[in-house]
Amino acid sequence: MKVKEEFIKFFESKGHVHIPSAPIIPENDPTCLFNTAGMQPLVPYFLGQPHPFGKRLCDYQKCVRTVDLDEVGDTTHHTFFEMLGNWSLGDYFKNESIEWSFEFLTKVLKIPVERLAITVFKGNDEIPFDKESYDRWLSLGIPKERIATTTEDNFWIAGEGGPCGTDTEIFYWRSEKAIPQQFDVNDDNWVEIWNNVFMEFNKDGKNITPLKQKNVDTGMGVERITSVLEGVNDNYESSIWQPLIKEIEKISNLSYQDEKNKKAMRIIADHIRAIVMISGDNAGCVPSNTDQGYILRRLIRRTIRYAKKINIDINSDWITNLALVVINEYHSYYPEILKNKERILQILEQEKNKFNKTLEKGLKEFAKVVDNLTTSCIDKDLAFRLYDTYGFPIELTLELAQEQNLKVDVEGFKLKFKEHQEKSKAGATKKFAGGLGGHSEIETKYHTATHLLNAALKVVLNKDVHQKGSNITPDRMRFDFSFDRKMTDEEKQQVEQLVNKWIKDGLEVTHCDMPKDEAVKSGAECMFIEKYPDIVTVYTIADVSKEICGGPHVKNTKEIGKFKILKEESSSAGVRRIKAIIE
Ligand code: SER
Repeated sequence: MKVKEEFIKFFESKGHVHIPSAPIIPENDPTCLFNTAGMQPLVPYFLGQPHPFGKRLCDYQKCVRTVDLDEVGDTTHHTFFEMLGNWSLGDYFKNESIEWSFEFLTKVLKIPVERLAITVFKGNDEIPFDKESYDRWLSLGIPKERIATTTEDNFWIAGEGGPCGTDTEIFYWRSEKAIPQQFDVNDDNWVEIWNNVFMEFNKDGKNITPLKQKNVDTGMGVERITSVLEGVNDNYESSIWQPLIKEIEKISNLSYQDEKNKKAMRIIADHIRAIVMISGDNAGCVPSNTDQGYILRRLIRRTIRYAKKINIDINSDWITNLALVVINEYHSYYPEILKNKERILQILEQEKNKFNKTLEKGLKEFAKVVDNLTTSCIDKDLAFRLYDTYGFPIELTLELAQEQNLKVDVEGFKLKFKEHQEKSKAGATKKFAGGLGGHSEIETKYHTATHLLNAALKVVLNKDVHQKGSNITPDRMRFDFSFDRKMTDEEKQQVEQLVNKWIKDGLEVTHCDMPKDEAVKSGAECMFIEKYPDIVTVYTIADVSKEICGGPHVKNTKEIGKFKILKEESSSAGVRRIKAIIE
């Protein structure tokens, strides 16, 4: 059964619009390297901004979670995964949401009711017991022995702040053993398959306040529900992973059924899928030593090391062949990976060649040092040498050390790393966890300031200057644009003055939704035209700027404050970077 298709068809029949997956790399959200849940790109709409497609949406979303990277290799953890979701943006609430989840699971997927169990929010000092959900499940025929209540596990928030709410989670009895009458949340045979979050609050620091509208956010992992439906306990035995596992068996000439090959084969399968999805995203991620690029590099290098472990000839075409399996399996859902196929293969080939050259030598160096080691700790100098000379991400050194029961002076390494790489310190070590951001008041001001800067550069430099990237934190904005030389001090000053003039003029910021083609025809700016839905939101600032954008923005430029350029520097060939602040 094609779960994704069935899911979309079902929710379309309930009045939902199927929206395309957002890019895996979120724009303008510096707290977060990747989208980690289907709801993440929808945050502005939970807060009240109207969505161009209406109030009922559904999709399958590309997600990446890197916090569990070390767990990959077991039967259930994956770096890249797909999440099915249906949403109500201030439309239906608990009643329909629960009813439709139940209907989809029992009627479409034909899961017997006896195999299901439910948790709902128990209640605490701030928020009462979710009786409405509890009663709804009872009314649908779930016996009360199969409904448990919890406090911590039934409240959902992504990261530290933002829209959140109580949730009700649906569990499935995965074992062949007799199903116990009484549901025990701590029994691992009950696996969570679907989560319905009732997003009616916003968390800001410690404060929880009601949102303007009551939303529903549900999420169901495609990998897990597929395993459940196919009756396998190891996700990699499901139809999702089998084409990759088979190809790995072929190129290594080893069998997945042999216990000792499993971990390496799972890691290779998991990572190659994530690598194709990340490098094939329209955001254009390439291996580097910071941020998403660093994760991509780590994934590729880890894949290569595990390939070596199961005796794959790492100089052969193995990695290209694996990538092609992924592209083949997924391009009908995510056409960008087919469009970006050449880039994906080129990245893999280059990174493979680079690392193959040093991996062998680095491993020898590691073995030599370990032989002569007088303590049980790899010191910072070796860790740094492995990184700097042999291209070993610190996590790889850690993994090698762990295999020999050794420790690594990671803190020492980080200090050394910092000394040597002042420039890249922001990304590599800090931003691994997921979370949401980008929508505070100050960040909203920065968003609008970004549009003004973009417009001012066109006036001062020339009209062919285009945005190449942007990144906003509560402390500053960063803006990359196409331009082939250093800006003069005079030009910087002119840009700064022009932006400040527009701020002072108190220009109105308006937005409206229109078909994408029309938006482009009307001269609206945008960075990646392919990633937008057919209907887009266009933000206009008087006669100064017009851009396709998801927002959020201030209503009037005078809210912004004083704009100041801190720095103008090279970002990459033909691309300059401005760092600026608002005072
Ligand atoms: N946001 C919830 C989750 O990720 C439901 O989509 O589980």
